[in-house]
Amino acid sequence: MIYLKTSEDIERMREANTLVSRTLGEIAKWVAPGVTTLKLDTIAREFICDNGGRPACLGYGGFPGTICAEVNEVVVHGFPSNYTLREGDIIGTDCVVEKDGFMGDSCYTFAVGEISPEVMKLCVTTKESLYKGIEACQEGKRIGDIANAVQTYCEARGYSVVREMCGHGIGKSMHEDPEVPNYGRRGTGPLIKNGMCLCIEPMINMGSRNVIIEADGWTCRTRDRKPSAHYEHTLAIMNGKTEILTTFDYIKEVLGDRFI
Ligand code: MF3
Ligand code: CO
Repeated sequence: MIYLKTSEDIERMREANTLVSRTLGEIAKWVAPGVTTLKLDTIAREFICDNGGRPACLGYGGFPGTICAEVNEVVVHGFPSNYTLREGDIIGTDCVVEKDGFMGDSCYTFAVGEISPEVMKLCVTTKESLYKGIEACQEGKRIGDIANAVQTYCEARGYSVVREMCGHGIGKSMHEDPEVPNYGRRGTGPLIKNGMCLCIEPMINMGSRNVIIEADGWTCRTRDRKPSAHYEHTLAIMNGKTEILTTFDYIKEVLGDRFI
């Protein structure tokens, strides 16, 4: 069931999505060699709670964190832990915030210190593919148009697209219909309509697309242990226009010329 939002709903979505964007900006201040992923989680949780939000991942289906901590080969759903970040790592921090009954969802993959040119290119391409998906997300087009835009962009550059995990609708719940895959055919899938709120979140691998879920039942990593990158925005389609409700500007402000 796809829930279409009113303009009042979207105003509240905006609030939640601004808060999650600011939270990623706080995390950006701390990402560095020597910092644990649990520290990043604590920073996020305290910032969200201090600003009238609720960390929506915490306790969701038993998930133990405010953020998903996605280090190197971890694709999604990694647990924050006492793992200490090292120079050359990448870490995706995926976070969902509830505010005033609505959800905001965003993910950013950070470089820890200097990273290799190959890994940098993976991150840049993944982020660019997110914006290709957003460009294709227009009222009157179909979900498959978004999916195809992401897939063709990444595969043309030699990367592979994770199939098992998708973007999604979002609103009062973190995950609503429709699913928004990162692979597919143009002109297929549900019609994109005014009132939809969607999360687009390419999960792109340097090696093969295959993933495994670890014994904790959550942590999803590449089977070949090559790195994976992940970026996510929440969008609203209203009055024939697509608006990005999240922003990486808070991260950019913190990172300056280290912004990917
Ligand atoms: N933020 C992730 C997504 O984009 C999922 C949240 S992880 C969970 O859908 F722990 F909350 F499940
Ligand atoms: Co999401």
